[in-house]
Amino acid sequence: MVAKLKTPTIPITEIEQSAFCRTDDDLAAKSLAEEFSAGVRWQKLPVEYMRMKPQELDDRIASAREKLGDQAIILGHHYQRDEIIKFADLRGDSFMLSQYAASQKSCRYIVFCGVHFMAETASILSEDHQRVVLPNLTAGCSMADMAHIDDVMDCWDDLDYVYEESGGIIPITYMNSTAAIKALCGRNGGIVCTSSNAAATFKWALERGQRVLFLPDQHLGRNTGIKLGIRPDEMLVWNPFKPMGGHTEEELTKARVILWQGHCSVHTRFTVGQIEEARRKHPDINVVVHPECTMEVVAVADSNGSTEYIKSTIEAAPAGSKWAVGTEVSLVNRIAAENPDKLVVCLDPVVCPCSTMYRIHPAYLSWVLDGLNEGVVVNEITVADEIAAQASVALDRMLSVV
Ligand code: 13P
Ligand code: SF4
Repeated sequence: MVAKLKTPTIPITEIEQSAFCRTDDDLAAKSLAEEFSAGVRWQKLPVEYMRMKPQELDDRIASAREKLGDQAIILGHHYQRDEIIKFADLRGDSFMLSQYAASQKSCRYIVFCGVHFMAETASILSEDHQRVVLPNLTAGCSMADMAHIDDVMDCWDDLDYVYEESGGIIPITYMNSTAAIKALCGRNGGIVCTSSNAAATFKWALERGQRVLFLPDQHLGRNTGIKLGIRPDEMLVWNPFKPMGGHTEEELTKARVILWQGHCSVHTRFTVGQIEEARRKHPDINVVVHPECTMEVVAVADSNGSTEYIKSTIEAAPAGSKWAVGTEVSLVNRIAAENPDKLVVCLDPVVCPCSTMYRIHPAYLSWVLDGLNEGVVVNEITVADEIAAQASVALDRMLSVV
């Protein structure tokens, strides 16, 4: 165990997260050349795609998609832009998309319109003959960037030392993490979870060890612990920039859950004040939020769950019902458009899409589909064999638990 102080670095994606926030609600795609002025990193692509107008791109994607036929499937996470979602063969939450990717054994190409950790997971779950493509390589996740494998390995060594004599600890990593972290969980008796099965995986872990290390989202970890009756004071936040995460051995010995100090910059924007304001305007409104929100927000909301849970709950609700939603705005706007008989609003008055999901601009989808039709696999996502084998142990545990 080495005592060390590291210099905190804020992930670039976290700094860029508010690049597309605006006060009007016009999120319709412009040509990529126009969008390049937003202060984020974009992957370079041939200039002809940058100049194409939205309608031109739409037509080009449609014809490239038709040409590819059964050779390819396009997966779209719920946070993708409408201009991308319309081409998705399946849209869903992280869990549904990973299950679907694992079930599609015959197609040659899986085009994943989501973020990097999702495409990496699809690559791990896919067959050897399949190739997974992420249309824009800069589509990462600022939360996943908050857990570096070297820091996580240091943390694991420290915890292993402290808990050796007292019942051990089981690592759980949220899907929003690198393959290397999933592999660490696989080789240390741990498991992967998503927002739709976090409670089941927590129970699974607590049947096998006395404690849980939850990576990298402290809020999902805390909210899940509370759901299972664990008190907030039994959960400690591990600060990777401090020796022993900022705790004494005695404090760690008393803890039941160790939460990695990570968060989602989109979901931590939601506040209790916004919920109070929504209820003031509409006393009969239902508030539903994603469990990446803080415990204070989750505590006062009426319900919480994954993106698919939020979508299906509102779809199943009676006409005339009112909904204030605490999740990414592209999804909230789509639910509102698809449920015109209900009032559906975002809790946050500022329109802030997840800036990394938003980087899958139609120009990138057009570029990679054209490439596949020409026999060129642009932006293939691969995972080293050893890491993939260990990560798939943790992913298979998740798929068998729920
Ligand atoms: P879901 O698994 O609920 O789709 O969430 C993924 C995600 O990144 C939420 O921010
Ligand atoms: Fe990551 Fe948050 Fe975007 Fe989800 S919404 S992909 S957790 S940054």
